[in-house]
Amino acid sequence: MSVAAAQQVDTALTVRGITKSFGGNHVLRGVDMSVAPGSLHFLIGPNGAGKTTLFNVISGFIPADDGEVSLFGRDVTGDHARTIARQGLARTFQNLQLFDSLTVAENVLMALHADMKVGLLRSMSGLFVDREENLEYAKAFEWLDRFGLAKYAASMPADLAYGDRRLVEIIRAFATQPKVVLLDEPAAGLGVSARANLFSVLKDLRAENMTVVLIEHDMKFGMALADEVTVLDIGARIAHGSPAAVQQDDAVISAYLGKRATNDD
Ligand SMILES: Nc1ncnc2c1ncn2[C@@H]1O[C@H](COP(=O)(O)OP(=O)(O)O)[C@@H](O)[C@H]1O
Ligand SMILES: [Mg+2]
Repeated sequence: MSVAAAQQVDTALTVRGITKSFGGNHVLRGVDMSVAPGSLHFLIGPNGAGKTTLFNVISGFIPADDGEVSLFGRDVTGDHARTIARQGLARTFQNLQLFDSLTVAENVLMALHADMKVGLLRSMSGLFVDREENLEYAKAFEWLDRFGLAKYAASMPADLAYGDRRLVEIIRAFATQPKVVLLDEPAAGLGVSARANLFSVLKDLRAENMTVVLIEHDMKFGMALADEVTVLDIGARIAHGSPAAVQQDDAVISAYLGKRATNDD
């Protein structure tokens, strides 16, 4: 690798000048964000700040009006979501996106075969379940086990508590072995033990060299995990840096207090 190429991979994910409007609503206004490989990057901001929209742009679900996104130095701006996923980017959504007619393990396997039709997976699922030497099934099972959900591998999602169903969705993202994963409020609606499981898995991922960008309403949860923080307010980055520095930043404090005063959060 050339020196220039080696320097480019100093960041796992780079966002430069991302701008997005919906009609006259300027939702993102020149956002920059730089995420180091193997780090946990906490993306915060009051409701409506544009956090989810930024995830939608990064993952190729919606096009930006302007700006660039690169993954490990490779420009992915404007690429299709599926193409970006193949480059090693996975994400979760704020709302559940599980297949109700597939078992928990099949839901995880489905994430590994994004292009496969549900019917085809269904007809093959006996194969997966019977043959535990199947590498993908083993991998799916391993992730379920990490989150304490191995016992539900053959259950239907509807039989699980809401928090556990949310964990399954998170596992679907991790099971694809992404290099970078975007988590949109993963702890929302989780009970105490599911939350503790999620916390410890996220803590361990650094050692596995996975890069995580986390949106999370629970400040304590995110700040305890974060290496770095980016703060958005009304579509603009108002601060970035270490958790300690950001929490003392006057602009950040007033953005949050200002929103509270207008009864938003
Ligand atoms: N597809 C869309 N069409 C129109 N407006 C949208 C769309 N997605 C998001 N918005 C608007 O963008 C703003 C930011 O939303 P969002 O990115 O969800 O914020 P956050 O995740 O920080 O709470 C909101 O005003 C929201 O209504
Ligand atoms: Mg959101």
